[in-house]
This record gives sequence, structure tokens and C-alpha cells, in this order.
Amino acid sequence: MSSTAPVKPASGAVNITTAVANPDLKSSGLEGLVAGKTAIASVLQDKLIYRGYTIEDLAEHATFEEVAFLLLVGHKPSADELAKFKAELVAERDLHPLITEVIQKTAKLPNAVPMDVLRTAVSVAGHLDADCQDTSEAANLRKAKRLTAKIPTMIGHMQNVIDGKPIIAPDKMLGHAANLLWMMTGKKPTPDQAHVMDVSLILYAEHDFNASTFTGRVISSTMSDLHGAVTGAIAALKGPLHGGANEEAMEMLKEIGTLENVVPFMKKAFETKRKLMGFGHRVYKNGDHRAPILHKLGRSMAEKIGPSALKWFEIGEKVQQIMLDEKKIWTNVDFPCGMTYFAMGIPVPQYTPIFVASRITGWSAHVIEQQANNRLIRPIAEYAGPGIRAW
Ligand code: CMC
Repeated sequence: MSSTAPVKPASGAVNITTAVANPDLKSSGLEGLVAGKTAIASVLQDKLIYRGYTIEDLAEHATFEEVAFLLLVGHKPSADELAKFKAELVAERDLHPLITEVIQKTAKLPNAVPMDVLRTAVSVAGHLDADCQDTSEAANLRKAKRLTAKIPTMIGHMQNVIDGKPIIAPDKMLGHAANLLWMMTGKKPTPDQAHVMDVSLILYAEHDFNASTFTGRVISSTMSDLHGAVTGAIAALKGPLHGGANEEAMEMLKEIGTLENVVPFMKKAFETKRKLMGFGHRVYKNGDHRAPILHKLGRSMAEKIGPSALKWFEIGEKVQQIMLDEKKIWTNVDFPCGMTYFAMGIPVPQYTPIFVASRITGWSAHVIEQQANNRLIRPIAEYAGPGIRAW
């Protein structure tokens, strides 16, 4: 087209010379927008539910394996269904040697953090999965179970490599949460620690159209594969505004260091308009339903461990009170998670990978739901660039 040719928008196209940037839209982050329907979870001010069950009910009465089945299959498992599901997960825990090799080669690279190593390991698992290119509901469920079983092993092996220790094999006698702790630390967790980890996995399992799940849904809406959707979701979860906040929250508490330093730290944080990780939420404006559940459990575990663990809860509670008094901003689940996992002796860079070990169930349920009744997710943008001009 010559530079002087008149511009004639195609029928139905926006006349871009009249398109005006809407500053509200630009900064909205799609806040409050209903982007689709789901039967998996509902995130509301007054309650969080997974397939009709409140998070309080599930945290108190269910196990992670039961919740994983609920999310993936759609109903509460019968005793037989649960036994079969647990056996399937245990049978799928081992990794193909190539995945272990990739973890061994990447975990010590100077620029690779555990979330990146896990993202690569999940992607490699796709190459090795016979169902990889099959997007049928049955294949998606099989792949989801395999990833749910294997991700804790990926995390465990990765931590062993980072620690320079021999790889610890999964223990088939241990439940999902206890086995994860065993593989990472080489110590059999106490029943208390296994329970706290199990509940944290329940709390992290699903949260409707959060950034990582939405990423996974967009990818799967092109009818791409589940491993690809999960790989993208892991990249989205890594960010400090999303799942990465649990690591950042603990790093912040370590930076504060002492109870006496809380007040000066907070004063400076307010002066410099610092964002405090583990606080605030896009949806919850009166507090995250998951945070008090985990805080209570983590604190009671820390009380049993002793002052070295309890100290972080005392610092965290003071920070929390000041944030609430001064800014009316509540903690989200990532804040107590940081303190809880620290009290358990889990290395900080593995907190977000553990979030993945749980959210894999929610992500996979969304991939299954999206692809079972798919329509390509393809919104439009409001053009805010220059009008048509000659090249
Ligand atoms: N620290 C200090 N101020 C905050 C924080 C915070 N953590 N969160 C919100 N605010 C302030 C913010 O500065 C803004 O103030 P003003 O109106 O004066 O500019 C106001 O509250 C509204 O905040 P916003 O950033 O517009 O809220 P948002 O809905 O865009 O962001 C959020 C939600 C989660 C990204 C944000 O609260 C945040 O960055 N929090 C820290 C990161 C974090 O903890 N993420 C975990 C989210 S929940 C679990 C998960 O997904 O893992």
C-alpha cells in the first residue's frame, strides 16, 4: 500500500482514529470481570468453596488426597474410590531417569531457581507421557494424576541435589504430604508436621480464575496439551504478586529479624510505600479465608517446636496488627504459609514449588473443564496507540 493511500477500515473494524485510551481499563487488571463459568470453586468475600464444600469444612475433615479427587473427578470419593486413587498416586511417584537427570543438571545452574527447575521438569514429563497430545477428558485425568504424584518427587529430588545429598526415593508407606516432607528433608515428619503440610496443600489446591489458573485455561482453550498448560501456569505462579509471595513474606520477616525491629521496619515501609508480601488480595477485601486456618495450625505447631519457631509468628503477628491498624489490609494465605513452612525447616525457595504440588489439582481440573466444553479464550484490547500514519 502506498503511504498516501486512504485508510478504509474493513467492515466491522474499529475506526482507530477515534479509539481513545481508557485509563481505568489500562490499570484495571481485569478486576471484578467475570471471565467465564466454573463448577470447581467459588471465591467470595464470605466464603471459599470447592465444589460446594467450604474450605473450613475441608481443612478440618478432609485429606489432601480426598480434596484432589474432589477437584479432579468432581465428587467426594467413596472409600473404594479413595483407596484406588491413593494407590494410583503412590504407583506414579517415581520419575523417569531423564527427568531426574534434567533436575540434577538444572538445579545447580546459577540462574535457575526451584520454580524454574520445576517448570522445566514438568515440561520434560510431557515428552515422556504417552497421553501428552491427547486432550480427551480421560487422558487429561490420567495426566493430572501422574503430575500430582510426580511433582512432590521432583521437588524432593531437586532439594536433595541442592543439598548435595543422595536422591531420596519416595516412601510408598507415607501419605502425599508426609512423603513430600520425607523426600525433601530425609526425615520422617511427625504426625503434627504431616497434618499441617496436608492442610496447607488443601488450602492451596484451588482458587477459581487466579492468574496461574487463568493462564492454564487460556493455554488449554487453544486445545494445547495439559503439560503445556501446567508449564505456563507454573511460570505465572512464580511471580511475587501471586504464589511467589509465600517466599517473599518469609524473606521479609527474616529481614525484620527481631520483635523490636517491627515498629521501625513498618514505619520505613510506610514512608517508602513498600509493598508487603503476603498482604492484600484482589478479591478478598476483608481477609483471606485460608489465612487464619493456616496461621492457627502453624502457630500451634511452632509452640510445640519452641521459641526458635514461635519467634517468627510473634514478629508476623505484630506486622499483621500494624498493617491492619494503619492500612486496613489483611494477610493472605501466603503470609502464614511462610512462617509455617519455615518452622518446619523447609528451605524458603521451595515454598512456591510446594504451592505447585497442591495447585496442580486445581489447574488440572480447570484444564479438564475447559477442554470438555471448549471455546477459544480470545478477548479484545482497546487500542491506545497512534492513529493511522504513513510509514
Ligand atoms: N502492601 C502494601 N500496600 C498494599 C498491599 C501490600 N501488600 N496490597 C495492596 N496495597 C495497597 C496498594 O498500594 C493500594 O494502595 P493505593 O490505593 O494507596 O495505591 C491499595 O492497597 C490497593 O492495592 P492494589 O495493588 O490496587 O490491589 P490489587 O488488587 O491490584 O493487588 C495484590 C492485589 C495481591 C497484587 C496486592 O495486594 C499485592 O501486591 N500484595 C502483595 C503480594 C501478595 O501477597 N500476593 C499474594 C496474593 S494471594 C495468594 C496468591 O495468589 O498466592
